[in-house]
Amino acid sequence: MKITIVGTGYVGLVTGTCFAEIGHDVLCVDNDERKIAALRKLQMPIYEDGLEDMVRRNVEAGRLHFTSSIREGTLFAEVIFIAVGTPPGYHGEPNLSYVEQVGREVAAHMDGYRLLVEKSTVPVNTGEQLKRTVTKYLRADVDFDVASNPEFLREGTAIHDAFKPDRIVIGVESERAAKLLREIYEPIIRDSGCEFLTMNIASAELTKHASNSFLATKISFINAVARVCELAGADVEQVAHGMGLDRRIGRSFLRAGVGYGGSCFPKDVDAFVYLADQIGYDFTLLKEVQKINRGQREHILRRIQHELWVVNDKVIAILGLAFKPGTDDIRESPALFFVPHLLKDGARLKLWDPVAAAKFRELHPEPEYLDDILDCARDAELLLILTDWPQIAEIPLDKLRDVMKCPVIIDGRNVLDPATARNAGFTYSSVGRP
Ligand code: UDX
Ligand code: UDX
Repeated sequence: MKITIVGTGYVGLVTGTCFAEIGHDVLCVDNDERKIAALRKLQMPIYEDGLEDMVRRNVEAGRLHFTSSIREGTLFAEVIFIAVGTPPGYHGEPNLSYVEQVGREVAAHMDGYRLLVEKSTVPVNTGEQLKRTVTKYLRADVDFDVASNPEFLREGTAIHDAFKPDRIVIGVESERAAKLLREIYEPIIRDSGCEFLTMNIASAELTKHASNSFLATKISFINAVARVCELAGADVEQVAHGMGLDRRIGRSFLRAGVGYGGSCFPKDVDAFVYLADQIGYDFTLLKEVQKINRGQREHILRRIQHELWVVNDKVIAILGLAFKPGTDDIRESPALFFVPHLLKDGARLKLWDPVAAAKFRELHPEPEYLDDILDCARDAELLLILTDWPQIAEIPLDKLRDVMKCPVIIDGRNVLDPATARNAGFTYSSVGRP
């Protein structure tokens, strides 16, 4: 089937490539001409495991194409997925101007029936607004449908998630739209055995916001428990394990640490709070979730300040700039909180990340960037771990201790084992562990 995807960010590029991989003929549209030119040369705008090979394979097979022309995209396929960004505005409300713009542009070029599918995370009732916009800007006398198909993929495991989803959710208003979407996803449903849920558009939109907000709530919950553990001499890892084995609770998303980041959780929780408020519900639970998340970062910053006593002129090594391992995405990453604060306090920073360093450097050119963990730690008076990259757990601790000026580790992701670190001669502290 022919499919157009508008927006080749994380969501759009992965979705389009995976649709091509299952045999569809896909045209990816982006108004960033440089991005399209690079993609045509098979240069990826993001780092995602396995993506480059899959893009190459499908481009070579003639199933995946790129253009910066929305007109071409509109004329190419009956089904058009909208995966443009929805960045947060000043009050946490999502900026929907890109979605609206795509709606207007598509409407202007439609020459027959089209199904417009919102793939970006959007507030409830965006479908309704999109429908109004398309109706207003339509030039030809043609039918169209709007649908919602929220994306649940995680960065770092995006391709796996696309082929093995826990569920596929679609929100539709017509049989025709439901049938088209079912046909697109049929190969994935067959292979993965996942549920295909059909509901109305508002419910589908809400399913996405509610899911992300719930996962963020789980993380903030365990982070709050971690703070209690620190005060009570308990071990949050053991508590989380004990809780998680209860199938009703589940083990996942109970890793305590420096708090959640990324392009989705912070933005989606903000948006959900804002939208609930707009329609008359004060979502105080989620406000606490946000507060706890911020609190984790502030708590660890205070610990650094306490440990060093005077931060000015101290050498601090930071391991991990991406918001999580497996990605070069630094949006809302904890490092974006710590680096400016520590620089302001006069620290001399040495930073390491296996893939996100280049992106981070564009925002913060001042610190020193090192490719090797031991080089990064050399002469440091404190080592701070902010991303749970597997490489960090493999550092030889005796060598690490020897290169550092003072063997102090603050582990914001509970990557190392406390007893092992202490036996190796470190002053070691982590999150929620005695
Ligand atoms: C974004 C949102 O952050 C996420 O919440 C939503 O679910 C999907 O969209 P992501 O794919 O990571 O996720 O966004 P981003 O990397 O910003 O990519 C959006 C792309 O759309 C960019 O390549 C941008 O150039 C493109 N775009 C934007 C258009 O093609 N047309 C526009 O009008 C605006
Ligand atoms: C998330 C959702 O999981 C996904 O379904 C949605 O489509 C997009 O948003 P993503 O942002 O890629 O995916 O990353 P995720 O793995 O969910 O992690 C988000 C943040 O939470 C990261 O900063 C991570 O380090 C943190 N996290 C996650 C914890 O602090 N503890 C945990 O137990 C799990």
